[in-house]
Amino acid sequence: MSGEPLILVLDSGTSSTRAFLYDTAGRIHGQASRPITQHYPGPGLVEHDAAEIWTQSRACLAEVIAAAGGASRIAALGLTNQRETLVAWDRRTARPLARAIVWQDRRTADACAALKAHEGEIERRTGLRLDPYFSATKMAWLLQHDEAVRGAGDALAFGTIDSWLLFNLTGDHLTDVSNASRTLLLDLDASAFAEDFCDLFAVPRAALPRIVPTAGPLATLHPDLFGRAIPVTASIGDQQSATVGQGCLSPGETKLTLGTGAFVLTNLGASRPSPVPGLLGTVLHEVAGGPRHYALEGSVFVAGSLVKWLRDGLGLVASAAETADLAASVPDNGGVVLLPALSGLGAPYWKPDATAAITGLTFAATRAHLARAALESVSHQMVDLASAFSAAGAAWTQLRLDGGMSANDWLAQDLADMVRLPVHRPADVETTARGAAIMAAVGAGHHPDLPAAAKAMTPTTRSFQPRDLGPQRDRRLSAWKALVDQA
Ligand code: G3P
Repeated sequence: MSGEPLILVLDSGTSSTRAFLYDTAGRIHGQASRPITQHYPGPGLVEHDAAEIWTQSRACLAEVIAAAGGASRIAALGLTNQRETLVAWDRRTARPLARAIVWQDRRTADACAALKAHEGEIERRTGLRLDPYFSATKMAWLLQHDEAVRGAGDALAFGTIDSWLLFNLTGDHLTDVSNASRTLLLDLDASAFAEDFCDLFAVPRAALPRIVPTAGPLATLHPDLFGRAIPVTASIGDQQSATVGQGCLSPGETKLTLGTGAFVLTNLGASRPSPVPGLLGTVLHEVAGGPRHYALEGSVFVAGSLVKWLRDGLGLVASAAETADLAASVPDNGGVVLLPALSGLGAPYWKPDATAAITGLTFAATRAHLARAALESVSHQMVDLASAFSAAGAAWTQLRLDGGMSANDWLAQDLADMVRLPVHRPADVETTARGAAIMAAVGAGHHPDLPAAAKAMTPTTRSFQPRDLGPQRDRRLSAWKALVDQA
């Protein structure tokens, strides 16, 4: 290899898939992005075309590699991905057998309700809730309802997006432990899927991938893809990756990513989490040969997707950035309150059947009030999450903010005001990809450990200090609570 080594990252998210090139000091040397089509075939249904995810991901990787003059300086690949979304494919042909069922999809709400008797044990062992969000009931649904999946026999392969991409990149059927911990099939401290959970959810064990750590020598790219057998040295779910990318490596450190959804993770160190009302326990990371680390998570299903819906679904704004200007153009929400339950409600409420609502409309309401109410709904959910974390003994002392929607200054300030904590935002908000670069750099041996890598590879931050909103804060929160209670 000639010249400084570069780390290639593939960040395959819900709305777009992106490739990045970093050096080992965290400087970005190239990036490419392609959108992912969202299919909404009916109420509560959200699907992706897994073939499109692979084609678009490969195109992004090819673009950054070409811009870097070829793969000769690429020392490692780190992968990070939207979690829980489930792909079924034929392992002989590498073709998807059905549309991927996306994490936001609610079609298995009844199947979850039917397993209610097992809820306590599931929560205790997996850290998760019995909710359609997770992958296991999506697998069972495909086996029950899709002819091609049912008929695939030994050729059937199931996997989350990491697994699907790794299969196409390397030919190996793998998943990393952070993604595996989102299926409902893994005991939080185990290294293989639990046989009894596979039986409970009627998932054939042989269709599942092998579980590997989040960093280390995981696999090698097909040399014919980009001209070199690049080692894959990290694979990690996107929210866990953002936690690493924010440098939240010590217990208590907390990040909030505003992407398609909004996800808060607090580092719990190497202690396995016990069930906490309204929140999830999840695997944070595991470097090969080292201890497993855990996090406490609050998963909010709708954030950036709400602004996208205002833009594309309603035509209310021309761009996401316009929401910040509109929100700032009015002194308050004018009594308009929005419940963004466009795909049910996640943490801390867990109401899979809830639908969205807007209340308080009068002739005085303008699109500025609606845009403001939409942004305010993100802060309202964070206030409720802050209480849930606090009740669990994991109170936040500050929030590290990232993700595409965090570029919205109005929202960053509103979060600080409503949660009453300082909010810090890095100069580069693509923390998810940066986390995978940090993991991959450690996995490839370019930094001795995660703290050293994070120190070398994370950028400076801007801070938003909380301001006193006076009685407006309480007014907003009581109107919000009334709406959640009705949902
Ligand atoms: O659990 C779902 C999550 O991984 C999706 O992340 O960034 O696509 O909103 P994002």
